[in-house]
Amino acid sequence: MEKNNDIFVGLDIGTTKVCAIVAEAKGLSIEIIGVGTSSAAGLKNGVVVNIENTVDSITKAVEDAELMAGYQVQEAIIGIAGSHIRGFNSHGIVTVKSREVTQQDIDRVISAAKTVAVPIDHEVIHVIPQGFAVDDQDDIKNPIGMSGLRLEASVHMVTASSIAAQNIVKCANKSGIGVSEIVLEQIASSEAVLTEDEKELGVALIDIGGGTTDVAIFYGGNIIHTFVIPKGGQSVTSDVSKGTTTVPQEAEKIKIKFGIAKESLAGKDEIIEIPGFGGRPPRPISRQLLGNIIEQRMAEIFTWIRKNIEKNGLENKIISGYVITGGAALIDGSTDLAVEIFNAPVRIGYPLSVGGLTDVINSPIYSTGVGLVKYAHRNRNVKNKSSLHSKGEINLFIALKSWFSKILEDFF
Ligand SMILES: Nc1ncnc2c1ncn2[C@@H]1O[C@H](COP(=O)(O)OP(=O)(O)OP(=O)(O)O)[C@@H](O)[C@H]1O
Ligand SMILES: [Mg+2]
Repeated sequence: MEKNNDIFVGLDIGTTKVCAIVAEAKGLSIEIIGVGTSSAAGLKNGVVVNIENTVDSITKAVEDAELMAGYQVQEAIIGIAGSHIRGFNSHGIVTVKSREVTQQDIDRVISAAKTVAVPIDHEVIHVIPQGFAVDDQDDIKNPIGMSGLRLEASVHMVTASSIAAQNIVKCANKSGIGVSEIVLEQIASSEAVLTEDEKELGVALIDIGGGTTDVAIFYGGNIIHTFVIPKGGQSVTSDVSKGTTTVPQEAEKIKIKFGIAKESLAGKDEIIEIPGFGGRPPRPISRQLLGNIIEQRMAEIFTWIRKNIEKNGLENKIISGYVITGGAALIDGSTDLAVEIFNAPVRIGYPLSVGGLTDVINSPIYSTGVGLVKYAHRNRNVKNKSSLHSKGEINLFIALKSWFSKILEDFF
């Protein structure tokens, strides 16, 4: 089947669920035409630990999305997370050869900026230009055509463990899906839930998933900081399970039905019933106790984030506030707790500005999946992608892609 260049497929391989999203370009926007979700058990804290389980979950999610979209998926853009991710800023300087900045000068200065020591077991997955300076004039978004002698570039770089990246690509390939690009999950989520005004003014995107909490900070329209915390909703469930002596499956249900991220949101006499296990009868517990357990873990995650932001001196740049997304953002009271800890405005991030099956994807659990297709669509028209991704950086993926094509050729 011919590849349709107007169709984009995002594959969010999460710790609790895999989600495949098929979208069709409609001019400058996209319409979601297929969504498939399956529960996942092959990842731990964002990293593949069981190939077979992950392949099964991907296959199921993709099949459902294909059926809904009436389109056979061959290739997808996939997300990556995990505590192996490193995000940092870098800087490059070159002389302007013809005294007027050209695309070649931009390519050279980006190359210079990304010439930093990357650990031998890591791959560069993003080199995102933040801004340029020509001689002494800085904060330039597009310096082409400007006169000057010296061109400087600032970039945000993201690296990932090669093995972790290889495994996630391998799982997609084994499910019959080629990988066009690999994108940091919070960069994808921010594409779906943040507005351009927020990114310009300064905003922190916090995606609290099952196994990881992924953070991206924007200022002046650019990504200035990214990091991943290896804790999320699963840690909350595990605490509820231990704190109320219930099996994890029941603890998950209790958390979703009665969970609150602030103890004070429960009435003093509010009692909930916890199912007994191993033949024991149900037990009553105070909802405040449940709130206390959840509040402690959520407060710990938000406090880690606040400390990281303060350590990097960025708290004054987050002028439009914090946007929390991912499934764990749905715990009642999570915004109240975040307001208290960050001392700033907080909202929940739902996927924005897409058409088609909007009611299906209208949940923070779809932010990464929707963001992946939006990212792919936006980048389609970006010329000179070579300046962002050198051949060396995507070698791994190209290698796996061609390995996969070869298998297909041999097979059919
Ligand atoms: N309505 C809800 N109320 C409270 N928590 C919820 C709700 N829905 C989902 N969650 C929690 O959100 C988490 C899953 O979120 P999400 O689907 O964003 O994670 P994921 O993408 O699978 O994981 P990760 O991004 O960490 O790899 C689970 O811990 C789940 O308990
Ligand atoms: Mg996720």
